[in-house]
Amino acid sequence: MSLAVVGYGYWGSKHVRVLSSVPGVDLTIVDGEPERLADAAAHHPNVRTATRLGDVLGSVDAVVVATPPGTHTGLARRAIEAGRHVLVEKPLATSVEDAELLVRAAHENDVQLMVGHTFEYNAAVWKLRELVRSGSLGRILYVDTARLSLGRYQRDVNVIWDLAPHDISIVSFVLDEMPEQATVWAHSHISSQHPDVAYLRLDFPRSQTHAYVHVSWLTPRKVRQVTVVGEKRMAVYDDMSDNERIRIYDIGVDVAAITDPADAFALPVSYRTGDIISPYIAFEEPLLVQDRHFIACLRSGTRPQTPGERGLDVVRVLAATDDALRNEGRATSLVGVTEAPWGADLEVPVPGIAS
Ligand SMILES: NC(=O)c1ccc[n+]([C@@H]2O[C@H](COP(=O)([O-])OP(=O)(O)OC[C@H]3O[C@@H](n4cnc5c(N)ncnc54)[C@H](O)[C@@H]3O)[C@@H](O)[C@H]2O)c1
Repeated sequence: MSLAVVGYGYWGSKHVRVLSSVPGVDLTIVDGEPERLADAAAHHPNVRTATRLGDVLGSVDAVVVATPPGTHTGLARRAIEAGRHVLVEKPLATSVEDAELLVRAAHENDVQLMVGHTFEYNAAVWKLRELVRSGSLGRILYVDTARLSLGRYQRDVNVIWDLAPHDISIVSFVLDEMPEQATVWAHSHISSQHPDVAYLRLDFPRSQTHAYVHVSWLTPRKVRQVTVVGEKRMAVYDDMSDNERIRIYDIGVDVAAITDPADAFALPVSYRTGDIISPYIAFEEPLLVQDRHFIACLRSGTRPQTPGERGLDVVRVLAATDDALRNEGRATSLVGVTEAPWGADLEVPVPGIAS
């Protein structure tokens, strides 16, 4: 299997590291910047390098696109039209039209198109999904996510398009449903170009719940957290923790039935408290799991767990946040969400993903 990784920056270099460890994979690194290629050659002396995708398309089976989001469509389309399978980093594209174009092109050229939603290959997120599906948390009251740090300001997208693809992918995967509506607040604090702090509210009608998503490039402390608040229990996924990624809190709040008029001044709720449990999670680097899955799907001809359609669905939510921002943040309904075509596949053992 011969693969080209296009973009040897922060994330592309990680793809190269994990793909180098997969047996039977022959790599070529493509980057438009000679300095990046020199760095690639220093770290991977046995890997071929090139400055343009066009120069290597004839000699590879598949392409990983790990360049800035604004370049995804052009590079992926070129590879697809040359009959190459493609894994595109998140977000799949920077508009719904471009994402649709890629999905259509992949069908027409009979190639696999996969999107790099890394958290859907993360054992802690699988555990969170299992907790929700099993009903052990009870009815989900709301989900809260925080993805904050002194982040890398991007040139071509705002903080929502840069960071929220992860949260939209995690929450919709865990709830098994795409949101129907997005409400947004966002602000640009240090430049007039792109908002760098944003809060989203996503509404999930079938689950009758909401997700509150906070993303920021302008916070001193790095936070990567997802909290699922259920009626019976609550679960917190802390991606910054090495050995307690998931904690399940057996706590809750009940509405107090006030029968005795003498209790009229009592609290309107009563509290339940219990154990805090951190289940064991056999954790493997999600990017390795994801890239191995891509290779396994190419070898077996199986549809990936995160196909182009999944990337398109997330791009639709991101585009809805743009509409909401133009509409002073007010709720914007999503148009034409593909009803989770990926959801059904997840019960089936997925090639390249250890159970
Ligand atoms: N899945 C994740 O957790 C995750 C994490 C970080 C970044 N990403 C995604 O990875 C992608 C890259 O992000 P990054 O932070 O590595 O960016 P980066 O700026 O660090 O690197 C991008 C690289 O692409 C090269 N490049 C740009 N246009 C090119 C072209 N047309 N041909 C060849 N090379 C080109 C640049 O020279 C640069 O080396 C983005 O889509 C980002 O959203 C995903």
